[in-house]
Amino acid sequence: MSDPFASFDASSLSFADVEPGEGQRWTTWPATIPTQRGPQPWPAWVVTDAGALDTELGILKTGKEADVFLLERAVPGDAAQRTLLAAKRYRGSDHSSFHRSSVYTEGRNTRNTRDARALAKKSGHGRAVAAVAWSLAEFEALCRMQELGAPVPYPVQVNGTELLMEFIGDESGIAAPRLAQVRDDLAEHYAQVVDIMRIFAAAGFAHGDLSAYNLLVHEGRVRVIDLPQIVDIIANPQGLDLLHRDCVNICDWFTRRRVACDAEDLFAELLAASFA
Ligand SMILES: Nc1ncnc2c1ncn2[C@@H]1O[C@H](COP(=O)(O)OP(=O)(O)OP(=O)(O)O)[C@@H](O)[C@H]1O
Ligand SMILES: [Mg+2]
Repeated sequence: MSDPFASFDASSLSFADVEPGEGQRWTTWPATIPTQRGPQPWPAWVVTDAGALDTELGILKTGKEADVFLLERAVPGDAAQRTLLAAKRYRGSDHSSFHRSSVYTEGRNTRNTRDARALAKKSGHGRAVAAVAWSLAEFEALCRMQELGAPVPYPVQVNGTELLMEFIGDESGIAAPRLAQVRDDLAEHYAQVVDIMRIFAAAGFAHGDLSAYNLLVHEGRVRVIDLPQIVDIIANPQGLDLLHRDCVNICDWFTRRRVACDAEDLFAELLAASFA
C-alpha cells in the first residue's frame, strides 16, 4: 500500500490547516497598532504575515525585573519567512526588588491618576502598570536609539508587558556573549563602547545602567541592550551623576583588563558632546 504521507508537501498547507500547538500562539504582530511597531522601513527579516506562528524555544535569561525568551516567528511551510526574536517580558507580579529606582522616572508623566496612585503604593495593580510602562519605555528608547544609528537590537514590537526585538546571536539560537565573558580584542571593543556612548550623549542621553553585562559582542561588533532607564542628561536631576556612573563602570571594567582609559576624560568628552 502506498504511504499517503510520502508526498506530503508542507508548502501546500493553507492557513486553515494550521493550529498553534503547545508553546505556540498566532503571531501577535497583527494585533499591534502602528505606534507599537518598530521604525520604518521594517527590516526585510521582520515577519508581518498574519499566518505566522510564534513558537517558544526556551529561556535566554531570567532577570530581576524581566525574563528574556527565545521566540521563533515563522510562517509554516515557508522557509523564507522565519526569524528568531528575543522576547523580553517584564514581570507584573513582584517588583518589590525593582532596582531601577524612581530617579529614572522623574519628569515622566503618568496621565491616569489611578495609575499614579497605584504606582506610588506598589499595589498589585501598580506593579502591573509598572511592567507595562517599563516595556513601553524600553521599546521607545530602542526606537529612538535605532533611529540615531546606535547598535541596539532592532525593536520589532511592544505589546503590554512583552517587548519583541532582534535576537542577537546565531541562527541556531545561541545568544551572543556579554562583553563580561569576552577576553579578546578589548581595546577595539572599548572604542566601540565609546562610540555608542557618544551617540547617546549627542542626543542628550545616558544609558543609565551601562556595564559589561548590558553589552553583547556579536561578530566583532558591540551591541548595547537593556535600555528602559535611559536618562536625559540635563532634564533629569540625576542625569549627570548617572552619566558619570556609566563612565566609571565602563572604565573600571576595561582598566582592570589593561585597556588604557580614564573615566573623568570620558565623562568630560561626553558632556561636551551633549552640549554640542
Ligand atoms: N536582543 C537580545 N538578543 C540576545 N540576547 C539577549 C537580547 N536581549 C537580552 N538578551 C540576553 O538576556 C539578558 C538579559 O537582558 P536584559 O539585560 O535586557 O534584561 P534584565 O532583566 O535587565 O537583566 P538583568 O537584570 O540581568 O540586567 C542579557 O544579558 C542577554 O544575555
Ligand atoms: Mg541587563
